[in-house]
This record gives sequence, C-alpha cells and structure tokens, in this order.
Amino acid sequence: MFSGKVAIITGGSRGIGAAITQHFVSKGAHVAAGYNRGKEQAENLAAQLGREKGSISLHQGRVDDFADCQRVVNEVLEKHGRVDYLINNAGITIDKTLRKMSPEDWQQVLSVNLSSAFNMTKAVLEHMIGRGSGRVVNISSVIGETGNVGQANYAASKAGLFGFTKSIALELANKGITANVVAPGFIGTEMVAAIPEAALAKVVAKIPTGRLGKPEEVARVVGFLCEDDSAYITGAVYTVNGGLDM
Ligand code: CAA
Repeated sequence: MFSGKVAIITGGSRGIGAAITQHFVSKGAHVAAGYNRGKEQAENLAAQLGREKGSISLHQGRVDDFADCQRVVNEVLEKHGRVDYLINNAGITIDKTLRKMSPEDWQQVLSVNLSSAFNMTKAVLEHMIGRGSGRVVNISSVIGETGNVGQANYAASKAGLFGFTKSIALELANKGITANVVAPGFIGTEMVAAIPEAALAKVVAKIPTGRLGKPEEVARVVGFLCEDDSAYITGAVYTVNGGLDM
C-alpha cells in the first residue's frame, strides 16, 4: 500500500497516465497529476477519483520547460511535504516520415518526451537524495526498441529514456533511489486511436496476443516497481507489449 506516500505523475490525467493515477490513488497514495492543456479532462478524473482511498491534486505545467518543472515540484513539496515516486509519463507523437518531418517536429517530441524526464528528475532529485529514498519510473515505448515508420522523433525520444534511466540508476543506486523503465506496446488510448485505421490493423495483426493492451495493464507494473519490496530492481526495462517485441 502507498498510504502517506506522494507520487508525481506527469501527463497523469489521460491515457496510460490516468490509469497510473487511478492505480496509485486506489493504493492510498496522494497523486500530484500533471497536465498541460487538458484541464477539463484532469478535473473530470479528479472528480471521479474522489471516493478512492488516496487523494489527487492537479498541477498545470509544461514538462518541456525546466523552470516550470521546478515550480510544480516546489508546489507539491510545499503542499504535501514529500515526493516518493516520480512517474515520467507525459508524451506526444508527431508522426511523419523523415522527409516530411520539420526540425520543429523533431525538437518538440524530443523536448516533451525526453528532456521532460531530465527536467522533472532533476527538479525532484535533491529532495529524494536528502530523504534517502525514491522511485523514478520512466514510461518509454516498444517503439524505442523497434523503431517505426513515421516515428523517427518518437523512437529516438523513447530510446533516449533507456540510456537516461540506466545512467541515473547507476548514479542513485547507493542513495536508496531506483530508476526503471516501463516500455508499453500498443495500448488502447487516444494516442493509438489516432493511428490511421489501415496502419493500426497492420500493427494489431503483428501482436502475438492479438489485441491492444489496456492502460491498467501498464499501471500495475509501474505500481509494482514503486513498492518498498522492489528496492533491488533498478536500471531495468519492463516491457508490457503483448509479445510484440521480445
Ligand atoms: N513500411 C514501410 N514503408 C512505409 C510504411 C510501412 N509500414 N508505411 C508507409 N511507408 C512509406 C510509404 O511507402 C511512402 O514511401 P514512398 O514515398 O517511398 O512511397 C512513405 O512511407 C510515406 O507514405 P504515405 O504517403 O502513406 O504516408 P504519410 O506521410 O501520409 O503517413 C505515416 C505516413 C506518418 C507513417 C502514417 O502512415 C502513420 O501515421 N502511421 C502510423 C504510425 C504509428 O504507428 N504511430 C504509432 C502511434 S501510437 C504510439 O506511438 C504509442 C506507442 O508508444 C506504441
């Protein structure tokens, strides 16, 4: 159980992030759920989770902006006094073949998906080191391992999270802090629903389990990695992809 613990979950109000928020709140944590533009969706989720064991607060901010990340972390520390878990989940796609991809398409995806993990982890790091405990879970993707047509920017950002996570896992292993990656496959969220129908049908045909994953199937692995008993798991990559890549 996560009673009395505080989790920051970026992009915590939709898709996989909403399922992670729900999972942590149901286990008794206070979740500081980050969102950027989806205020209404965030408020709906907060209202829906009102009856659960834990509690939730909403924090608007830009994960691609270091100063904004520091502001959000300070806000959470001032209000709740601690951060036990940081889940770097916020992510976007701007799918285009490289011939059509602009420098801005590249930079935006790298900033939101990869620099965000640096920004948030850096902002919370000294607090976790000071307390001698913490869990960082970075949400990558099967695409970071396999690559994908139309996703050079996204694949690079998600692959970058592997190297980032393993490096900080090494740096923090003797400080009571673990850092791990969860790499989902194709999960039934708005992001995947936006894939052109024909392209999605081809993807599903390649998934050995024959279906998209559920956000909750990812959330429970994130929860597992944050348990006290998972202290010996660090620098690991947990895939949740229905066998799409092994
Ligand atoms: N394999 C090889 N080549 C392919 C291909 C494929 N599967 N699909 C397209 N191409 C090639 C085409 O042959 C074409 O090449 P030529 O110009 O040489 O003929 C080129 O790519 C452009 O093809 P289109 O004109 O069809 O493409 P487009 O520019 O309109 O769109 C696309 C291409 C952006 C890749 C589009 O098909 C698309 O959005 N595909 C889905 C991408 C995807 O799977 N995204 C996952 C999102 S979910 C997610 O990211 C979550 C997660 O972590 C899993």
